[in-house]
Amino acid sequence: MSAATVRVPAKVNLCLGVGPVRSDGYHPLATVYQSVGLCDEVRAGEVDDGELSVSVHFDGDRTREQAPVPADATNLAVVAAARLRDALGVTEGAALAIRKAIPVAGGMAGGSADAAAALVACDALWGTNASRAQLDEVASSLGSDVPFCLHGGTAIGGGRGEEVSPVLARGHYQWVFAIADHGLSTAEVYAEFDRMHDGVDIDGPEVGEELMSALRSGDAAALGAALTNDLQDAALRLRPELRLALDIGWECDALGAQVSGAGPTTMFLARDEQHAMDIAVALTSAQVCADVVQATGPVTGARLV
Ligand code: C5P
Repeated sequence: MSAATVRVPAKVNLCLGVGPVRSDGYHPLATVYQSVGLCDEVRAGEVDDGELSVSVHFDGDRTREQAPVPADATNLAVVAAARLRDALGVTEGAALAIRKAIPVAGGMAGGSADAAAALVACDALWGTNASRAQLDEVASSLGSDVPFCLHGGTAIGGGRGEEVSPVLARGHYQWVFAIADHGLSTAEVYAEFDRMHDGVDIDGPEVGEELMSALRSGDAAALGAALTNDLQDAALRLRPELRLALDIGWECDALGAQVSGAGPTTMFLARDEQHAMDIAVALTSAQVCADVVQATGPVTGARLV
C-alpha cells in the first residue's frame, strides 16, 4: 500500500461531569461522548527515508483557517505515528496530510481526532495490523479524548475521559454548531473551573439517569433537556459573548443548547433537519459566530476510506 486515508469525526459531550482536580493535574470525568458527522481526513503516504512529516490543509474559506495548527513534529498526529511506530517496533516513516473541517481548539476534539486517524492510517500503511488493545493503549497515552475518537458512536467516558465504554443508544440526532473565530485552550478552561471551585467541595462526577434513559428511548426532546456541561460556566467566564449564540438557540426553541466540551464551540440540538436549518440561519444572520455547521450523530469513529 502506498497511501491510506482515514476519515474521523468530531465529538460532542452530551454530559460532562467534572470532579475535583487529581494529583496528576487531570480531572476525573463522567461524560457521554457522541461522534458527529463533521470530519477531518488524515492521509498517510509512503516515504523512503523513514521520516515522519505533516502538512495541514483547511476545508473551505473560513476565518478559523487562521488558527495555528503546528505542521511539525509537535502536531499530535505526528506524535501518534511516532508512538505507534515505537509500540510496534517498526522503522517506517509516513508523510501525513491532514484536511481539517473540525474547528481548531474548539471543544470538539479536533487534534485528538487527527491523532486517532493517524494511528489507523499508519497501521494500514505499514501493514502492521495492530490489535484494538494496542491502538487503545497508544491512544490513551496521547490524550484524554483520543480513545473515544478511535471508536466513535455514543460512549461513556470515565477516568480522565480515556476509559471508554459504548452505550446502548437509539436514534439519530440533528446538531447545529456555532464555531467561534478563536479557539480556547482546554487547560485554561480547566484552570478557570478550578479557580471557580477553590475551597468548594465537589462531588465525584456521575452520568445522570435522565440522559441515559433519553438515549435508550431515542427521545430527542428528553436528550435536549438532559444535556449538561460542568465546564460551561468556566468557558462563559472566559468568553462571555458565547451567551449570545446560546440565547439565539433558545429563542429558536432548540431542544438543548450548551457549550461543547471546553468550548468555544456552542452546540444546539434540533427536532429535525428543517429545525436545524432554521437555527443555523438564525445564528448566521445574528452574526454571533464565525461559522455555522450542521451535522448528525452518532457516526462511527476513525475509519479507512
Ligand atoms: O488529555 P488532553 O491532553 O487532551 O488534556 C489537555 C489538558 O486539559 C490537560 O493538560 C489538562 O490541563 C486538562 N484536562 C484535565 N482533565 C481532564 C482532561 C483534560 O484537567 N480529564
